[in-house]
Amino acid sequence: MAKPVTIQNSSVVFGNHAQKKAAIELLDGELSPQEIRERTGATVAVRNVNLDIKEGELFVIVGLSGSGKSSLIRTLNLLNRPATGKTFVGDRNLLEMSKKELRRYRRNDVSMVFQNFALLTHRTVIRNVQYPLEIQGVSKKEYTERAEEAIRMVGLEGWEHYMPSQLSGGMRQRVGLARALTNDPEVLLMDEPYSALDPLIRREMQNELIKLEDEMDRTIIFITHDMNEAFRLGDRIALMKDAEMVQIGKPDEFFDNPASDYVRNFIADVDKTRILKVRSIMNKPAYIAKQGDRVKDTLEAVKKRELSFTYVTDENRKFLGYVTLDQLKRSRGKTIDRLINEDETVIYRNAFLREAWPKLKEAEYALPVVDGKGRLRGVLDYDVVVDALAD
Ligand SMILES: Nc1ncnc2c1ncn2[C@@H]1O[C@H](COP(=O)(O)OP(=O)(O)OP(=O)(O)O)[C@@H](O)[C@H]1O
Ligand SMILES: [Mg+2]
Repeated sequence: MAKPVTIQNSSVVFGNHAQKKAAIELLDGELSPQEIRERTGATVAVRNVNLDIKEGELFVIVGLSGSGKSSLIRTLNLLNRPATGKTFVGDRNLLEMSKKELRRYRRNDVSMVFQNFALLTHRTVIRNVQYPLEIQGVSKKEYTERAEEAIRMVGLEGWEHYMPSQLSGGMRQRVGLARALTNDPEVLLMDEPYSALDPLIRREMQNELIKLEDEMDRTIIFITHDMNEAFRLGDRIALMKDAEMVQIGKPDEFFDNPASDYVRNFIADVDKTRILKVRSIMNKPAYIAKQGDRVKDTLEAVKKRELSFTYVTDENRKFLGYVTLDQLKRSRGKTIDRLINEDETVIYRNAFLREAWPKLKEAEYALPVVDGKGRLRGVLDYDVVVDALAD
């Protein structure tokens, strides 16, 4: 079961005991981490961070090298012990766990995928994947089954008995992911897992993670320094700078409401077509006709709104097609039903703009946007997309 993760006023400080003590005194003051280091000799890697990560969320932490991302994520498996604050997974405060509880938490409830894969080079793929279960004393039958299932989930069937050195970078990272999934963790931590991969493989791995997130009931915290990756993957994103959070929000919110010039600059190079979804920029149709409507009424409605066509749905809002102004003017029939042009070209509201673009370029009319059940939810116009991408 996925669990929410709550980080309250958390700080991570590196240094000896006296240095840390002196630095902690200064956390609430005005000095920058740089100035605190000069004064005390301690490094403030994370400073008074608050995060509320929902259960099942794919939450991305992004920031430049040295901003404190790894230091923060490592507080969630206690590889780093925060100097201040509280850390909850579900309703358990990690900082109040006994040694025994902590050991159990680390083995059963949380897993981490690392940038450098961190595989055991002398073990085969399946023996790497089963390793966390093996050391827990799970029976051979069970760990084999669970390792095979995890290998299937990451698409590595057939490679079970190869050595890591015989695999490509992307495949090695799949092994790392499979290993992290075998203990069926409540919280999955991924620290720049794709940074070492080629762009194409990387895109493929991102798409698979989006799919896996749909299939799995798991809270995922994903770290990257690549803004495009952050926006593609993240349900929400937290931008970190100099040990602090600069902005936390959904992808569109960073564009619509950047918190500072720093944020504005950070997102300047983001390819919006890859990260903006259709639903975030579609409009409401100006008018929707229903199956069975009279020609006379429809013509009037279309004229009044100065439209050249209207969409038609059934009574459950399922999209059927469109009727043009010319057709309505020429028609001798009573209802519009025989005029409906059935058009297969629809756009899904959860598609990325890039996926919708080819259809949009060829379309003569603004395109209907539908949900998974085929219901008309909006309309997407070529000009609107061009505008959204321009600013
Ligand atoms: N074990 C440690 N001992 C001392 N200082 C550390 C330690 N780990 C990290 N730091 C310092 O804490 C700060 C934040 O480092 P951190 O590794 O968290 O950054 P990051 O955002 O993950 O960077 P990157 O993108 O390069 O991985 C840096 O100044 C780093 O030197
Ligand atoms: Mg790091």
